[in-house]
Amino acid sequence: MFFAKAFLGTISFSASLGLGLAQSQVPLVSEDGPRRPNVVFILTDDQDAQLDSLRYMPLVKKRLIEQGTSFNKHYCTTAICCPSRVTLWTGKTPHNTNVTDVSPPYGGYPKFVAQGFNDDYFPIWLQQARYNTYYTGKLFNAHTVQNYNSPYPGGFTGSDFLLDPHTYDYLNSTFQRNDEEPRSYEGQYSTDVVAEKAYGFLGDAVRDLKNKPFFLTVAPIGPHSNVIIKDASKGKGRSVQFGEPIPAKRHQHLFEDVKVPRTDNFNPDHSSGANWLLDLPQQNSTNIEYNDHFYRQRLRSLQAVDELVDGLIARLEEYGILDDTYIVYSSDNGFHIGQHRLQPGKTCGYEEDINVPLIVRGPGVASNYTTDIVTSHTDLAPTFLELLGIPLREDFDGKPIPVVKGEIEVTEQTRREHASVEYWGVAISEGIHQVLNREHNTYKAIRLSSADYNLYYSVWCNNEHELYDMSVDRGQMHNLLDPSNSFSSQILIAGLPITKVVSRLDALLFVLKSCQGLSCRNPWKQLHPAGNVHTLADALDRSFDSFYEAEKTRVRFEFCANGYLVDAEGPMWETQGLSAPYLRDGASWDEWV
Ligand SMILES: *[C@@H]1O[C@H](CO)[C@@H](O)[C@H](O)[C@H]1NC(C)=O
Ligand SMILES: *[C@@H]1O[C@H](CO)[C@@H](O)[C@H](O)[C@H]1NC(C)=O
Ligand SMILES: *[C@@H]1O[C@H](CO)[C@@H](O)[C@H](O)[C@H]1NC(C)=O
Ligand SMILES: *[C@@H]1O[C@H](CO)[C@@H](O)[C@H](O)[C@H]1NC(C)=O
Repeated sequence: MFFAKAFLGTISFSASLGLGLAQSQVPLVSEDGPRRPNVVFILTDDQDAQLDSLRYMPLVKKRLIEQGTSFNKHYCTTAICCPSRVTLWTGKTPHNTNVTDVSPPYGGYPKFVAQGFNDDYFPIWLQQARYNTYYTGKLFNAHTVQNYNSPYPGGFTGSDFLLDPHTYDYLNSTFQRNDEEPRSYEGQYSTDVVAEKAYGFLGDAVRDLKNKPFFLTVAPIGPHSNVIIKDASKGKGRSVQFGEPIPAKRHQHLFEDVKVPRTDNFNPDHSSGANWLLDLPQQNSTNIEYNDHFYRQRLRSLQAVDELVDGLIARLEEYGILDDTYIVYSSDNGFHIGQHRLQPGKTCGYEEDINVPLIVRGPGVASNYTTDIVTSHTDLAPTFLELLGIPLREDFDGKPIPVVKGEIEVTEQTRREHASVEYWGVAISEGIHQVLNREHNTYKAIRLSSADYNLYYSVWCNNEHELYDMSVDRGQMHNLLDPSNSFSSQILIAGLPITKVVSRLDALLFVLKSCQGLSCRNPWKQLHPAGNVHTLADALDRSFDSFYEAEKTRVRFEFCANGYLVDAEGPMWETQGLSAPYLRDGASWDEWV
């Protein structure tokens, strides 16, 4: 009865929001009436989609990829753990959560709490809809042995969290269960401990299945770097030591001949990118050998995750609930090793850092299917709610991802073709060579991909610009907006001069950088209130040339800040309800038109 109501509520709610998507969820019908599905969500840490990590996970391939749908163009909204996870659990872009870093003042668990999300985020909404919620593994950064109970994370029926300073200590982790004291697991392998805890929660969930369906999140640290944090409590004298991930003993000799893929952007002869990346030295053979070792350690550390996925699915089968359960696999952000001469790490906007795995298996989901529709982490909370028949929220910046095959194909024609990317602060280097964090790593970007074009556009806080035509430059090696590129004026994208394309991309980024809710979900409508433009191709119509190319405000920064400081952000687009957009810096909307 409850479900029938919630479900009807969803239909009218999403229609009134104008999300433009058909209701994807068909209620599961059992003899006692509609049965609500369960979810098992596996969230890995720093797993790439570009460096082939999934190719080395045979059980994920057999159990998930071949039995489900893979989203090849799934992106994180910011390439760092905690901000990305807060986006994932709120359905909001980082500029709307203002949790933009891994530690205070701009991020970490304390900032998540200070922003009020601990009382109003995904697990809370699930509990309100009468779901049991379980979580084990890493929740956020700066969730520590000191602050774990002030307050406890809200919204969980059962939880067992990894805590700093031992979150990334593969062989000496600290966990904290429900309202108990933290406990050390010295000498045990972190991912195996997570697996045992996950199986335990699954058992608890199944025992209460007559009353409530469940949502279980399993968040192992693999393949994150091993991190030793010393003196975490003191502030001064604190040291953070990154090293390659540590595999379980049983996996430590696998893949001895494997190396980082030697793509054209791997340790190139000429530096690439923009800003501080242009100064990176080429890596010598010692450094490359270490990076190859680092890469193998990542693949090895993923083997315990591979077994964990298999263990979960085997248990779902034994309990007889595999057909009622969605299994979703993703990672908080991607990773680079040696591309653009970078040391191992994330925090950049390039494809290796932002493209992450997303695989969905479950009722109605096509098996062994892949799609190129563009999706992002802002979409995951709305997707889960829609799958479970729970009303969507008006302030979501993302839209539900269609997971049923027929619907994916329909939305291939209509779905937005971009993901927005933002970052504030420093670039963190995680290897052992040139361990130098880079300041001024603040930028905004758009990743846009369709049958007609494949682009990455970025504006850095020093106002350098990048544009890559990834249909011919997959490795993002030729910045078409590099001022020293004399050839750029002759280059065409989708048959048009790049100035025409950039004028549209910049306007789109201008809306996206301060969008909220509807304006994030449908940014073109802000620029074209008549609703006649849905894609870059539409906007490139010659009739809009004067609109886009007239002298007007462009995306720019006033200065490089380590957080989302309005004064640093340059001119801002603001929306008043659904209409009347205007520019903050004095220019009026009429001038823009
Ligand atoms: C984001 O948080 C920081 C740190 O608390 C604060 O200084 C800044 O003003 C906030 N930004 C916005 C736009 O609220
Ligand atoms: C493991 O962690 C505990 C704290 O949880 C600490 O007391 C102990 O010294 C650590 N062991 C090693 C070998 O670092
Ligand atoms: C590479 O550089 C490192 C210092 O960054 C140095 O220790 C090492 O000896 C160098 N290796 C070679 C082969 O030159
Ligand atoms: C999955 O699809 C691939 C390529 O389309 C095909 O080669 C493979 O045999 C399929 N696997 C299964 C289990 O259907």
